[in-house]
This record gives sequence, C-alpha cells and structure tokens, in this order.
Amino acid sequence: MLIAEIIRKKRDGQVLTADEIAEMVQGISDDSASDAQIAAFAMAVLLNGMARDEVAALTLAMRDSGDVFDWSDLPGPVVDKHSTGGVGDNVSLMLAPIVAACGGFVPMISGRGLGHTGGTLDKMESIPGYVATPDNARFSKVVQQVGCAIIGQTAQLAPADKRFYGIRDVTATVESIPLITASILSKKLSAGLGSLVMDVKFGNGAFMPDFDRARELAISITGVAGAAGLPCHALLTDMNQPLADAAGNAVEVTTAVEFLMGTRREPRLLEVVIALCGEMLVTAGIENDRHRARELALSALEDGRAAERFGKMVAALGGPADFMENHTAHLPQAALQRAVPAPAAGCVSAIETRDVGLAVVELGGGRRVSSDAVNPAVGLTGLLPVGAEVEKGDPIAFVHADSEEAADQAQATLLSAYAIGEPPEPQPVVREIIE
Ligand code: URA
Repeated sequence: MLIAEIIRKKRDGQVLTADEIAEMVQGISDDSASDAQIAAFAMAVLLNGMARDEVAALTLAMRDSGDVFDWSDLPGPVVDKHSTGGVGDNVSLMLAPIVAACGGFVPMISGRGLGHTGGTLDKMESIPGYVATPDNARFSKVVQQVGCAIIGQTAQLAPADKRFYGIRDVTATVESIPLITASILSKKLSAGLGSLVMDVKFGNGAFMPDFDRARELAISITGVAGAAGLPCHALLTDMNQPLADAAGNAVEVTTAVEFLMGTRREPRLLEVVIALCGEMLVTAGIENDRHRARELALSALEDGRAAERFGKMVAALGGPADFMENHTAHLPQAALQRAVPAPAAGCVSAIETRDVGLAVVELGGGRRVSSDAVNPAVGLTGLLPVGAEVEKGDPIAFVHADSEEAADQAQATLLSAYAIGEPPEPQPVVREIIE
C-alpha cells in the first residue's frame, strides 16, 4: 500500500494491519517515507490512537529495523529495567550489579539526559576511562563475565525508532502513549531481554507528571510487552522530589558507590532500588515470591557482592581497577562548592522537582540541545527531602559549579524550587505495581 494510504487509513481512525505497519516502518528505515509523511503518521496516531495489536506490530517492526542481541549462550535469565526518567534517579547504577549478584544477566542499554532529566550514560561517562559505547563483542563479554554492563545505545539498535523519535520530538507528537510504548519496547526487545521491569515515574519531576496518564502508559507497556512475548511488570513511583539526594553526573555516581558500599543509603532510594530488584528477580524467574526476592536483593547489597560486581564492571569497561575504594580521587570535582541556606525555619513542604533538574542543566550538567557536551563534575548534593525540618540558614543543598555566576543562578533556581512551610502528608514512593 502507498505510504499516503496508510496515513489516510489511520487519519480516518481505522485499524492498520501488521503488514501496513511494517510497510510504514520500512519507509522510515529506508528513507522512502519523507519526514512530512512520518510526521503526519505520528499525528494521526496521536489523535486516533492504536489498538494493542497495532502497537505490538509497530514495536516488533521497529525492533527488526536493526540488530537484535542474542544471549542464548548465557547460563541465566536476561533481564533489565527501564525508567521513564527523573531527577536524582541513579537507580540503574545499583540495580544492575545487585541483580547480577543474584544470578541475573543485565545488558543495560541506557540513554543520555535530555531536558530536565538525567541520563545513566552521562553518569557512567564521568568515570575516567569508562567505555560507554563498546563494540558488541566487548559488551557481550562483559555481560557474560560480570553479569551486567551499562552502555549506550548503538546506531544499529532500532534505527527506525531513532529517526521516528527525532521527527516526533519536533512535531509535538512525543506524548502519544502508543508511540512511547513502541519506542521504548522496540529498543528493549533489540537488547534481547527475557523480561523487563518498567519504572514509570509520575509527579512534578517526571516526563509524564499526571498519575493517571503515567498509569495508562504503564498498562500499555506491560500489555504490549506481554503481546510481544516479553514478560513485563511496571512500578509507578513518585517523582515529586528528587530520588537520590544528589543530581548531576559524577555526584550521582558517588551516591551510587556510597549506596553499594553501605556508607550511606537514603531510605526512599533504598525502597525503590529493592522494589525494582525484587520485581526483576520475579519476572526473570529467579524467585517466585516478591517478598523473598526483595530479601535476596537486600542480602546481595548488604554482603558487598553488588559493590564487587559494580567495581568489576567499571574495570572491565576501561575504568579504574580501584574505583570503589578510591572513587573520590577518580571522579572529577567542580571548581567550587557552595551551601544554599534555607530562607526560613520550617519544614520542606514541596519541591518543584523539574526546576531542580533544570538547575543541573544551567550548571552545565545537562543538555539544552542534544549536541551539547555535559560537564560531569557539576551538580547538586545534600538535597533535603520533602518533610525535612530546617532552621533558617541551614543548607537545603550544596551547589557544585564551575563559576560563581553559575552557582548564583543554580542557587536562585533551588531557592524558588523549595517551599518551606508546614509538614506535608507523607506519600508512598512506590504507588502501585502493575503485572
Ligand atoms: N522515551 C523513549 O525512549 N521514547 C519515547 O517515545 C519517549 C520516551
């Protein structure tokens, strides 16, 4: 069928066949569909939606537009987690080695930060020598030997999604739940996973702030993954405040190392990490009972096996062999560090989390456009959580900046992001699990 006819059919609210969807994706991959046609198709889907079978067909066609990893040689289940992104969300750095220490294999293909949310890949690249885009042979070897490898997306994985996403990004069509579902799952299926856990964030620091929309996305992803043969559970987690008490690149790696080594574990972060690890162990079939799976994950964290895996992964991918012991000496430090004093006594009653993420971007730790370089050293630490009591002048956070001017700007953004007032009602960090 002509590309224009496929667009017309979707424009008129009809259901496309798997063949028609495959033709559209073929057009995206081989450039026989123009940018204008792809944009029109995206808008037709955004306005008219897609049935689950259509989304599954789109997912599989985009997966098959490039390489698909085959891990059938590995002696255990292959499992990953994907987060819709947040602020201070360094969960992946702890979760991959914990699950590896429990017998799972985690080939984690992660993304860069864009907008106010941080990217796992940028964080890992703050480790000197770390090769975040190894060739496939090295990636496979590290996964096999260590149990986990955190790397970046290669051009060979779901290339149709890359072109499609680039067009959606500039045509106000990113927000379509069917298109987000197919975009995320096509990449995860190309990684050759046996099961997947989604961390779908909601709240004022999330890509999708509204809980009901985030829940709709979680239901769409778990349903389509199941239809595509990938067991998938989703956790809906609160992003109405930063998850870790740090936001940035090297500063979030430091938090992850301290967490793995047991020097410091923020309770909210611990809860999300263990809940996601438990769910990964359940979907991977390593443990059937959710409660026992969480205990298994906690024991791998507490007895140091997870820290050991992380250290091995860093060394295997070119980072320092003594990274866990000497991370402070290895990670870049910003030129100056400054405390941000609370303007009044009271309780942290709310945080504009998106603005905290934007403060990191202003410091140079994130990107305004995808071609920007990030400064790995800058960021925020000691971010007080919602509910913390402060006296006037107590630090609500520390700014790590490369100039006084950048620090002034980040300080002003943080002061307007933090509301000091009455204690709010405590909220659960994991709101719901969708199987
Ligand atoms: N993240 C993705 O990978 N794809 C989308 O469409 C939206 C968020």
